Amino acid sequence: MLHPEVVGPERSGPVGNLLGILMSVRSSLTVVLAAGDGTRMRSGLPKVLHPVAGQSLLAHVLNAAPKEQGKGQGKGQEKERGAALAIVIGPDHKAVAEEATRLRPDATTFIQHERLGTAHAVLAAREAIARGADDLLVAFGDTPLISAATFERLRAPLEKGATLAVLGFRAADPTGYGRLLIEGGRLVAIREQADASPEEHEVTLCNAGVMAFDGRKALEILDRIGNANSKGEYYLVDAVTVVRDMGLEAVVIETNEDEVRGINTKAQLAEAESVMQARLRKKALEAGVTLIAPETVYLAADTTFGKDVTIEPFVVIGPGVSISDGAVIHSFSHIVQSSIGKNASVGPYARLRPGTSLGDGAKIGNFVETKAATLEAGVKVNHLSYIGDAEIGANANIGAGTITCNYDGFSKHKTTIGKGAFVGTNSSLVAPVKIGAGAYIGSGSVITRDVPEDAMAIERSPQNTREGGAARFREMKTRGKKRKES
Ligand code: UD1
Ligand code: CA
Repeated sequence: MLHPEVVGPERSGPVGNLLGILMSVRSSLTVVLAAGDGTRMRSGLPKVLHPVAGQSLLAHVLNAAPKEQGKGQGKGQEKERGAALAIVIGPDHKAVAEEATRLRPDATTFIQHERLGTAHAVLAAREAIARGADDLLVAFGDTPLISAATFERLRAPLEKGATLAVLGFRAADPTGYGRLLIEGGRLVAIREQADASPEEHEVTLCNAGVMAFDGRKALEILDRIGNANSKGEYYLVDAVTVVRDMGLEAVVIETNEDEVRGINTKAQLAEAESVMQARLRKKALEAGVTLIAPETVYLAADTTFGKDVTIEPFVVIGPGVSISDGAVIHSFSHIVQSSIGKNASVGPYARLRPGTSLGDGAKIGNFVETKAATLEAGVKVNHLSYIGDAEIGANANIGAGTITCNYDGFSKHKTTIGKGAFVGTNSSLVAPVKIGAGAYIGSGSVITRDVPEDAMAIERSPQNTREGGAARFREMKTRGKKRKES
């Protein structure tokens, strides 16, 4: 006989691992509800597309949702029988559908044409649910802090025979949340704020919104949910009463409040960002990254680090960045969609834009901007440069103030620089242009034609030096001044 109970938030170690193995043989369907407009965000962007740590809210939820696991991942672990995904979106949310399929090409999107409540929203995915997975998981698209481990913990009671598992948390302020009503250790109902009695308002154990159903009974349960409540909506939370009326078990799995923060406003978006940043910094430190002032460094959820990476204070790292062993990112640098080679050095005050790839030991100094640029091992761009749409061979030295003139007002053109080339300071390389390996460009040149290997190119007017010219000029000027005064 099953004894439903409230299980505490932490469940790791051998028991957790064992659960992981058991769960991996069950098939699942995750339905993510994202049909809301997010009116309270006061934004033209659908709510679930707002970013936290460089990824949309939806991306965070989808990353945590069960995924198909590859074969041979861990001993004794069978391939998961299927981890399907369905996303319920609003009628005018093409961008949400696009984001969903970008992240999970296997996902199916369903449109909820009328917003009649969370249970109604789940039923928009009826066709997917009817296919019958072992476990049906329901999650909200606006709770980005949820973890994969929590989804697995929620599925565990189903394995043991429960029909419904509800994710609960102790709210510091329960106002607005559905309250979990426990009688004799059993979950008997979830009461929404608007329908709760004064005593029920005192309950702090709240509904996080994430639920796991026995996939084979889910449709029957969902179809039995009515809308006899103060808002006249079909509430997903009423699944608990339905399950109980069917003589089946509903249990609560508890987690902490930070994990289930829902985003309704820009202030909550900022709070989630701060929780996520704290997590990412902790994870980076645990992985051996040196963060001198962690609270000043902004990371993205997908940032990857090698060994012995150092990040100085006040660095912003956007999505798609990988930093290899021994690299140092100096203060005030901003890096997006770039890969940084071993022992490379970036900044201070560097801006690496999308498509930058730095080879091992490359150096990007202060006030250097790069974009769509491949700099091979040992390349140095130490000061005040713009390197865009360029390929630079190993060990080339790019002098201060060098600019790749990549744009003619209509299209972008490429600059190619061979290995070991030396580009003198304040050179303009007017693309498309190729500079051969080992070539030497004199300072101040405006290079408009290709320079062959090992050639020297200087584009500069001849210098005109007049002996004593400065003295004569001064004398002339001072004489003129005295005449005016007298
Ligand atoms: C919901 C829960 C509440 C829980 C809280 C946790 C219900 C009835 N209430 O309340 O118990 O404590 O979340 O944050 O489930 N959605 C649709 N279509 C609809 C209605 C909602 O897609 O017709 C989506 C929303 O976009 C959102 C999610 O479902 O992602 C939750 O809806 P929301 O209106 O925010 O529910 P809450 O009032 O926060
Ligand atoms: Ca909500």
